[in-house]
Amino acid sequence: MSKNIIIRTEREADFSAVYEINCKAFGTSEESLLVDKLRKSGIPLISLVSELDDKLVGHILFSQAHIISENSRIEIMALAPMAVLPEYQGQSIGSRLVKHGLDRCNQNDFKAVAVLGHPEYYPRFGFEPSRNLNISCSYDVPEEVFMIMELKRGFLKNVAGQVEYHKLFNELA
Ligand SMILES: CC(C)(COP(=O)(O)OP(=O)(O)OC[C@H]1O[C@@H](n2cnc3c(N)ncnc32)[C@H](O)[C@@H]1OP(=O)(O)O)[C@@H](O)C(=O)NCCC(=O)NCCS
Repeated sequence: MSKNIIIRTEREADFSAVYEINCKAFGTSEESLLVDKLRKSGIPLISLVSELDDKLVGHILFSQAHIISENSRIEIMALAPMAVLPEYQGQSIGSRLVKHGLDRCNQNDFKAVAVLGHPEYYPRFGFEPSRNLNISCSYDVPEEVFMIMELKRGFLKNVAGQVEYHKLFNELA
């Protein structure tokens, strides 16, 4: 466990390091380019970095998404992408980014967060399979990888619909 880790809001001076972190973690520039485009899109974002001894080693992004039903459009946040430099993985840096990010979403009054990811990883933070609720993902993904978490208790009670990420995510799908 790395002790000298600071989690903080991303600044403009971090953009190139964040680009590199995403490239190295994912082995492609697709997520890096998506992050760049989302910053320019103007939608609500929460973007945090983890800094270890003055070096950026991780990044997490939350962006505005919506649960769409016939007669409603409910704002939530979506966690994606998140990345830790390969040589720093497995030291809980990713977990700290998720926890700080969820706290920040809560402080900013977002009521729920969705994630598409590993079903063994995200439940430890409170995410549950969306199939437990009447909520699905607009992308054609296995249902167990799509999870959602209430930040405000009861917020998703009686909510049914499909989560739509910002259309820029379609380029990744
Ligand atoms: C996913 C990732 C951010 C986790 O960061 P990390 O600092 O290694 O995370 P932690 O140390 O807090 O947790 C490690 C756990 O993550 C799991 N993990 C590693 N890669 C994973 C992945 N792609 N998806 C889900 N879980 C993963 C490990 O199995 C480990 O589980 P354990 O605690 O049960 O042993 C990092 O592995 C990474 O950058 N992966 C490549 C990019 C990626 O797949 N991002 C997620 C999708 S957006």
